[in-house]
Amino acid sequence: MNILVTAGATREPIDPVRYLTNRSSGKMGYALAKAGTTLGHRITLISGPTSLDIPPNIDFIPVETAQEMLEAVKANIGGQDAAIFSAAVADYRPSSLSDKKIKKTADSLTLELVKNPDILGSARLQFKYDGILVGFAAETENLEINAREKLCRKACDLIVANDISQKGIGFDSDHNEVLLVYPERTRLLPVDSKERLAHTIIEAVHELRTGTG
Ligand code: PMT
Repeated sequence: MNILVTAGATREPIDPVRYLTNRSSGKMGYALAKAGTTLGHRITLISGPTSLDIPPNIDFIPVETAQEMLEAVKANIGGQDAAIFSAAVADYRPSSLSDKKIKKTADSLTLELVKNPDILGSARLQFKYDGILVGFAAETENLEINAREKLCRKACDLIVANDISQKGIGFDSDHNEVLLVYPERTRLLPVDSKERLAHTIIEAVHELRTGTG
């Protein structure tokens, strides 16, 4: 299979020094890319900035902002058998970018934010992608209900849901626990290394593509 993976956090610049981002390390997405090549698939990895080594034998596309990630996905999603969106995209960005460092003279500072594009949500409607579409859901409550809502709203075949309020899993950890949420069923993958979970997720995606799941 040809598989596109998004990973890491986007960075939304405020001025030449500062940016908005979130806690994603990229480990989950990079584990998916590595598991994909190990299992014999061709991987295109679109990644926000991370401190991780670029996995070997993949097409690697570095991006910084959500807008850049959107453009990279748009340019590369055609011809993919599966697309897995594990990136933690910043939902908002500053409405304007200051080309000079903002001075810290005022006691308070108000930033106006505008909504970023929903990249996963654009796959079917805007990019007319018809391969297997897999989203992630980072939730702090009602894991399955919220994941199922994303499954429908973003027209996915599968949502990989993780509870990011639990200590020791999720953001930045080497471990995770995920609930695979399909339209008609769920499958729990208990706490394990991101490498082993990624292997199982890629196998699950392959089953969806080949109709053997
Ligand atoms: O990187 P790690 O430190 O290893 O941590 C892994 C992880 C916790 C980041 C990962 O497992 C995870 O949950 N990734 C999704 C994070 C997220 O942004 O979830 P969400 O529920 O806000 O978004 C739902 C889906 O829409 C995701 O597939 C996301 O990539 C996508 N999305 C969200 C917003 C947006 N503007 N565009 C998107 O494509």
